[in-house]
Amino acid sequence: MDETDPKITGIYDKGTVEQYYATVGKDVVKEKGEGADAFLMGLIPQYLTGRIVIDLGCGNGRYAEVMSSRGAKKVTGIDLSESMTEQAQIRKVEKQLDNVEIVCADMDSLRLASGSVDLVFARFSLMYTVKLAQVVTSLSQALSPKGEMLVETSVVDFVDPTHETEVKKSSVPLELKVGETSVQIENFAYSMDDYLTAFHQAGLTVEVSKRFPPHNLSIVDGYKFKDAIKFGYVVFKLVKE
Ligand SMILES: C[S@@+](CC[C@H](N)C(=O)[O-])C[C@H]1O[C@@H](n2cnc3c(N)ncnc32)[C@H](O)[C@@H]1O
Repeated sequence: MDETDPKITGIYDKGTVEQYYATVGKDVVKEKGEGADAFLMGLIPQYLTGRIVIDLGCGNGRYAEVMSSRGAKKVTGIDLSESMTEQAQIRKVEKQLDNVEIVCADMDSLRLASGSVDLVFARFSLMYTVKLAQVVTSLSQALSPKGEMLVETSVVDFVDPTHETEVKKSSVPLELKVGETSVQIENFAYSMDDYLTAFHQAGLTVEVSKRFPPHNLSIVDGYKFKDAIKFGYVVFKLVKE
C-alpha cells in the first residue's frame, strides 16, 4: 500500500458535513428498539470512569460527548475532515467537555503510544480506509491489556464473487436517506471475512458480532457492480487478547 492507494476524500467537506448531519441528526438520540445504533449504544459502558478513549472518525463529536459524560478520563476524537473537527471543537467548547480533545488526523497514519488506550470507539469510520488491516493493527497496539474496541461499520456480501477484486479497487457510491433527507457518501467494500481476518491478525477477540439490515443505505443507481454486492451493517465488540 502506498500513496497510489485509492482514498476517500472530500465527502466530508463543509457542504457535505451539513448535509450529513441534516440527514442523520446532529446529536446522538437515545434510540430504543432493534437498530444497529441502539445496539452499539448498549455496548458503551455506562461508567467510563478513569478510562482513556479514542473516538476514531469522531465526526462532529456527538459520540465523544456521550463517552465524556460517562466519566472517561480523556476522550480523543480523531477525524480527517477539517469541517468535522471544527464542529467537534465547537461542541467541546460549548458543552464544556474538558475531558475531550479533538485531533485532525488520518487513521491511515496513526501514531499512538502502545498500551495507552482503554477503549477504541469507531462508529462508521473503518470503511473509509483502504488499509483496514493496518489501521486495526495500529489501534490494537494502542490498546491496554483487556482493552476494548467497539465498531459499527458497513459490511458487504459479494453476491457475485467474480467481481470481488474489481469492487475492492475503488469506493462504492452510496446514498444515505432518512425520511426525505439524503446525502451521497462512499465506502470501501469490506466483507465479514475481511473484518474477522483483520481483527484476528491484530490480536483482537470477537466478543460480540451482530449484523443488521442497512435500513437507510442504498447503492447509487448506475454503479457498475450494483447487482454483484449487498451492503449491510455490523456491530462488533472486540477485546485485546
Ligand atoms: C459516517 S461519518 C461518522 C462520524 C461519527 N463517527 C458519527 O457517528 O457521527 C465518518 C467519519 O469518518 C471520518 N473519516 C473518513 N476517513 C477518515 C480517515 N482516513 N481518518 C480519520 N477520519 C476519517 C470522516 O471525516 C467522518 O467524519
